[in-house]
This record gives sequence, structure tokens and C-alpha cells, in this order.
Amino acid sequence: MKNGQIWYDTDGNDIQAHGGCIIKHGDTYYWYGEHKGGETKVTHLVSGAEVARVDVIGVSCYSSKNLRDWKYEGLALEADKDNENSPIHTSKVLERPKVIYNEKTNKFVMWFHAERPDYSLAGVGVAVSDSPLGPFEFKFAKVPNKQDSRDMTIFKDNDGTAYLFHSANRNKTMNIARLTEDYTDVDGFYVSVLEDQEREAPALFYKDGMYYMISSGCTGWAPNAALFAICPHLLGKWKLIDNPCEGKFARQTFFGQSSYIFEAEGKFYLMLDHWKPDDLRNSGYSILPIEITDDNCLIVPWQEEWQGI
Ligand code: DGJ
Repeated sequence: MKNGQIWYDTDGNDIQAHGGCIIKHGDTYYWYGEHKGGETKVTHLVSGAEVARVDVIGVSCYSSKNLRDWKYEGLALEADKDNENSPIHTSKVLERPKVIYNEKTNKFVMWFHAERPDYSLAGVGVAVSDSPLGPFEFKFAKVPNKQDSRDMTIFKDNDGTAYLFHSANRNKTMNIARLTEDYTDVDGFYVSVLEDQEREAPALFYKDGMYYMISSGCTGWAPNAALFAICPHLLGKWKLIDNPCEGKFARQTFFGQSSYIFEAEGKFYLMLDHWKPDDLRNSGYSILPIEITDDNCLIVPWQEEWQGI
């Protein structure tokens, strides 16, 4: 699988799982992401600026044992084709789906960025399933804690508490909002970090007493330099450090943007989207290994291929 290019599933079809995440359940990895397999359309933001989008199709699910051969499992969450008022109606925008397993309720909970076509909602959506394969039942979309929420991810802390990380304050700030015990809502507690740093596309992991966050700058679909931030306490004062990427086109994050960090066999890997704003369905993917130095720095070297594990 060539990093930066569109990848294919075990049936030979293009993998439609953009802005996604990979989780492991049992001995199987599941990759969820935006199905953008439709026509790219141009809509206008509230500001009047143009933005490319694809009608919501749903959230795809793929399964794999080796992180290389991906079997299409269908749409884990399907767009609502009938009710124009539904936040997941085809006419809306659904981005960055993240799935988390709740051990207490034995349910899989999906969070995503729920939007109007002009990006004026700035909300999150929640859907729940008994099986990793879905079907996920859509519960609601809302603006969490009355704070605008665009790019986001979900992170489970070591004590089992989960948090929604979301760009807020018109993308100027990153908010960390605690979830309820069943992970299906925010519980009202949140902190704002990285104030005025204008980061989006957050992806996180924890290793040996340190939390790490890789994020991008805010330049729409265009690539920019990633930065990593560290903090010894999840809700503490996060510090931006530097661009972790190394190699040709490191300043452009190899023309990609962070979507998620997953762990496999004790190592951490960064998932990137290589957006094609003129043809979003053909946006490519990369999976790159993350190296952690003794002084808590991250290095993400470019690799031409992803070969799985
Ligand atoms: C950058 C975000 O990271 C993407 O998820 C998407 O919202 C685009 N902006 C839209 O321009």
C-alpha cells in the first residue's frame, strides 16, 4: 500500500474511510471513516468562502487482522436519506468519526463532527451499536457544552474516563470535554488548552507518564506543518513542541493531515488523510510509525509503503 495514495480493500474497491480511526477489539482491527464515494460539490461557508464536500453517505467499517488486508463490512452508520431535518441527512456534512468501546455497557459509541453544509453548526453527533460492525443507531447531534466544535477526536484515559477533544472558539482553542460514564454524552466538565494556537485534526496517545497530541494548523483541505504537544496530565497545561515529521515534504506533513493514532503490538502509528479537495473520494491515506525519544519528542519519518504488521 503506497502511502499518500488511495488504498483498496480485499474486493479491489477503493477504501472509503476518510478522517477515520482504527480500533482493536478481540483479535480484529476495525477501521471506521467517512464514506466519500460520491461527487465532490462546492458549497459556501458562512463567510462566503468556498468549501468542497460530498453528500453524507455514512461511516464505513473495514476489518483486518494484519492492518493491511481490509475487508469492507459495509456502512456502520448510514446517512438519513429521507428526513431533511436529520443532522445526518445526505445534504449535511459528517466528518472524523471516532469509535470507542465502553466496557461497562458493552456498547460501541461513535462520535463525529456533525455539520450543516455551510459549517455553521459546529456540533458533534453520537451513535451507538452493540457490535463493532454496526448498525450504529444515531442518537443526537449537539453543540457540546455550548462550545462550538469542529475537528475532534475521542480519547480514553488510563482510568477508563473518556474525553472529547475538539477545536473550539472558532478553531482558536482546543477543548477537552469529559464524557459521561457510558460515553454517550458530555458530562458538563471541560477545560480549554492550547489557547489561541489554532490547531485542528487532533490525534492522541499516552506512553510512560506522558500524553502526546499531534495536530494540524487550520488551512481547510490544504496541508500545513503538523505539530506535537505534550502534557504529563491530560487536563494540564499542554505545550506545543515542534513538527514531528522528518523527510522530504515534512513541512507539509507529507501533504497529509492527522486523523488518528492507534497502537498495535506496543507501537504507535499515525494515520494521515491526503485530501484531494477537487475529488474527495480519491483522497489518499498514510500510516506512519511514531518514534518517541528519551526526552519526550516525537519523530514521524516518511515511509513510501505501509505493509501492516
Ligand atoms: C480541515 C478539517 O481537518 C477537515 O476535517 C475538514 O473539516 C476540512 N477542514 C474542511 O475544509
